[in-house]
Amino acid sequence: KKGGFRFYMEKEIYEQFEVLKENTLGRNTKEGIKFEEVDKKFFEGINNIIISACGTSYHAGLVGKYLIERDAKIRVNVEVASELRYREPLLSQDTLFIVISQSGETADTLETLKMAKKAGLKTLALCNVDNSSIVREADKTILLRAGIEKGVASTKAFATQVMTLWMLSNYLANKNEYYAINEAIEVTKVDTSLHEKIKRLSKRYTKGHGFFYIGRDIFFPLALEGALKLKEISYIHAEGYPAGEMKHGPIALADPDLYVVALLSKNILFDKTKSNIEELVARDATVLTISSEYIEMTDDFIRINETNHPMVEFFEMMVITQLLAMEVAIRMGNDVDMPRNLAKSVTVE
Ligand code: F6R
Repeated sequence: KKGGFRFYMEKEIYEQFEVLKENTLGRNTKEGIKFEEVDKKFFEGINNIIISACGTSYHAGLVGKYLIERDAKIRVNVEVASELRYREPLLSQDTLFIVISQSGETADTLETLKMAKKAGLKTLALCNVDNSSIVREADKTILLRAGIEKGVASTKAFATQVMTLWMLSNYLANKNEYYAINEAIEVTKVDTSLHEKIKRLSKRYTKGHGFFYIGRDIFFPLALEGALKLKEISYIHAEGYPAGEMKHGPIALADPDLYVVALLSKNILFDKTKSNIEELVARDATVLTISSEYIEMTDDFIRINETNHPMVEFFEMMVITQLLAMEVAIRMGNDVDMPRNLAKSVTVE
């Protein structure tokens, strides 16, 4: 059933290339983005967007904020559902309420959806499970088409959430990035020699006192997600941090046993991020840099393809962070499909 893979998680990482093709089929076209599920009329009168989600789905939402605000010029607030639910948010009727959920059953996310509906907002679900509670509740749904995800640590569902938000952003902005989207799908194909390299590299990263994943812009939410993947299956403490925030406290933790995974985009704030890496190197942290631009100073380096589009870098880095988390956890003897204390679908509050 695992198709020759050691774990479902590994299978699902490898599947991402096919799954993203499915996710974009008939939606990413040469003439622009098309969604059968919604039309332009649905978005009329929308001046704001609130995205509500939990965990990995929340991280995807954060990527959506960067994309939609930059391209479509619509204000986006991204909310952790368990917080949004119990405060008294100001919900205005010109707001589109988007929920993101793999399972469609996450209790907190579902409750925020009901709350938004009650306040009279238009609601849209990005969800992987048709006929789930969230899909039944929402006005409209764009299905993620990731197939069944078995690994508790979400991988391919995250990939489709980010891709769907990217397409939605194009749609709202009347922007056509047909070729970049296809390029981003292409780079998720796992290169086995890269996987071997990550396997070898993971040896170095099992001991220290914790990890920081750092990045700027869309690579900040990817840092959050990379850190979440690592902590949930390896049980090693990890944090995602905006690269520019390290100097405001966390850099005090830097020593050779602090591991840093630096997501260094060539296309967005390269020099700024590079100097943040330099600061960590100067304080003797052990740094693994992922970039298309070789930088000599760090302990380890994983090269990604050269591209002019940050989202293409994003998807290639995403696969690398997933593989790294998995290899560290396997090396520690953990069952990466069934991490302790976690359930695939969180239907309790
Ligand atoms: C992490 C993970 C969780 C889920 C979260 C929301 O790998 O899977 O953080 O993302 O529980 O679940 P869904 O997307 O089903 O609402």
